[in-house]
Amino acid sequence: ALISLRQMLDHAAEHGYGVPAFNVNNLEQMRAIMLAADQTDSPVIVQASAGARKYAGAPFLRHLILAAVEEFPHIPVVMHQDHGTSMAVCQRSIQLGFSSVMMDGSLGEDGKTPMDYDYNVAVTKSVVDIAHACGVSVEGELGCLGSLETGTAGEEDGIGAEGVLTHEQMLTDPDEAFEFVKATGVDALAIACGTSHGAYKFSRPPTGDILAIDRIKAIHAKIPNTHLVMHGSSSVPQEWLKVINEFGGEIPETYGVPVEQILEGIKHGVRKVNIDTDLRLASTGAIRRFLAQHPAEFDPRKFLQVSTKAMTEICVARYEAFGTAGNA
Ligand code: G3H
Ligand code: 13P
Ligand code: NA
Ligand code: ZN
Repeated sequence: ALISLRQMLDHAAEHGYGVPAFNVNNLEQMRAIMLAADQTDSPVIVQASAGARKYAGAPFLRHLILAAVEEFPHIPVVMHQDHGTSMAVCQRSIQLGFSSVMMDGSLGEDGKTPMDYDYNVAVTKSVVDIAHACGVSVEGELGCLGSLETGTAGEEDGIGAEGVLTHEQMLTDPDEAFEFVKATGVDALAIACGTSHGAYKFSRPPTGDILAIDRIKAIHAKIPNTHLVMHGSSSVPQEWLKVINEFGGEIPETYGVPVEQILEGIKHGVRKVNIDTDLRLASTGAIRRFLAQHPAEFDPRKFLQVSTKAMTEICVARYEAFGTAGNA
């Protein structure tokens, strides 16, 4: 059944687990996520980005998700809109039947310009007002996502602040978070704690605390009833990078957020963990390998099947690691 983000994350908080929120753009991702959830008895958050809406069209995404609900009626599903950059975008999603929207007022409507606190409060509050009237949950964002190692937002064409960020910009302030939640009434808050979008988060193998765990703890202590969201949570599996590069790809050395670091976050109030890049890498690796090993094959279902399988394995691993498994 389709449920709101608030409902799902309240259960997660009560039982101390996290829920991966996977981005969805096509049938294969949707199937992979549901097969993994079915296999592990996990609740599901699927999210559609602006890029996904441009690629597949909002109605197709909506019906993909509704088809998933129909085929797997026993699995709770949140249909979430990722990184809305305006009131109009969020309004359209609410109208389409999304059960949760993100209003990312940390950046301007271009998705690149860091905005001030007052703008963020005003635009987020107006989204909360209409969303809550419709039973739809709202995720806000405070702070600018950026890698503490590289000082940049990471993503080149997607959502992310342009230029080099200061250390303070890349860490959400706990007192400001308290004021923001009080002023807006958001159900969940995306925080900046050292992650960034995309595949290029860290240039060296991460060791120790590469996330600002103390900052997450401090924020959680200030707003214990607001579910924390960690964007940019892909782990960038080294085994898939190897497969990609072995079969014709050219991806430079790069590292993501280790699953153990995400678990530290979940211990301290992180409930929604956004993952997109990992499924992209697994899909690309599986398809490159399949086509290289079966050069005469031309039925797309054959290579899309290995893509689905590779993505399903990632989803299963995250559901199990985050404690989502068994909670559907
Ligand atoms: O927020 C970033 C997500 O990975 C979505 O990216 O707009 O390319 O679909 P996208
Ligand atoms: P990754 O690029 O690390 O997968 O993050 C995705 C994300 O935060 C979507 O909102
Ligand atoms: Na989101
Ligand atoms: Zn994001």
